[in-house]
Amino acid sequence: MANNQSSELPLLSASGLCKSFGGIQAVDNAEIQVEKGTITGLIGPNGAGKTTLFNLLSSFIRPDKGRVVFDGEQIQQLQPHQIAQQGLVRTFQVARALSRLSVLENMLLAAQKQTGENFWQVQLQPHVVVKEEKELKEQAMFLLESVGLAKKAQDYAGGLSGGQRKLLEMGRALMTNPKLILLDEPAAGVNPKLIDDICDRINAWNKNGMTFLIIEHNMDVIMSLCDRVWVLAEGKNLANGTPNDIQNNRQVLEAYLGQ
Ligand SMILES: Nc1ncnc2c1ncn2[C@@H]1O[C@H](COP(=O)(O)OP(=O)(O)OP(=O)(O)O)[C@@H](O)[C@H]1O
Ligand SMILES: [Mg+2]
Repeated sequence: MANNQSSELPLLSASGLCKSFGGIQAVDNAEIQVEKGTITGLIGPNGAGKTTLFNLLSSFIRPDKGRVVFDGEQIQQLQPHQIAQQGLVRTFQVARALSRLSVLENMLLAAQKQTGENFWQVQLQPHVVVKEEKELKEQAMFLLESVGLAKKAQDYAGGLSGGQRKLLEMGRALMTNPKLILLDEPAAGVNPKLIDDICDRINAWNKNGMTFLIIEHNMDVIMSLCDRVWVLAEGKNLANGTPNDIQNNRQVLEAYLGQ
């Protein structure tokens, strides 16, 4: 757990967010703040609107109302790839690795600003492209090492276990050199031994300065990792505080028991 640098502006701050799907108010005037250098948790019963909130924060869907400020700039009008370029990336509740590509290829695809993608650069400066590809590969291998998948680099991503796919998602997010990573249920469907491993890796990256916002149903994960926890229920903010505050909050307990 890194120190909470509360004197600074939050790295991410969203307020007044609303999103309805037909008759369902999935997110209802919600707010959230993520301080730089922290691991922040987002919890709530099934259907509380957590993933929808992630989708709004990362512009995968547009809010009906509300605003999102990331690193001092309003971002709710931007496209997801523009937000990723500014340093906010997210992983998905169901991991989205491309099964027929190798683990390494999945990592390389996630990298941004690849010179190789620019037609003219390829024609005019092929040596630069070759050098950048080599550097990207080195970065990918370094990150695969750090998420524990280096030995699987040449394997098809389709052959990975659920937990390994979650780790690959984390690796892919890290390939973009982000400032903030949103993780949607990193421990779901993962065997208990690998969950500890995933937590250790999140902690290690946090110690290196990475900020995380994590949705998770596994309370051990939330309690052991998070500096602060936000609770959603029926699309609304129910509480926020330290893991200890939240664990002892009667309204939070009732929201979970009532599901
Ligand atoms: N694309 C959509 N179209 C219609 N309804 C949706 C859509 N996405 C989410 N919902 C509804 O919005 C509500 C919030 O869903 P959301 O997936 O955000 O919850 P969640 O807190 O992530 O739940 P879980 O813990 O089960 O993942 C639910 O009632 C869900 O059925
Ligand atoms: Mg969800």
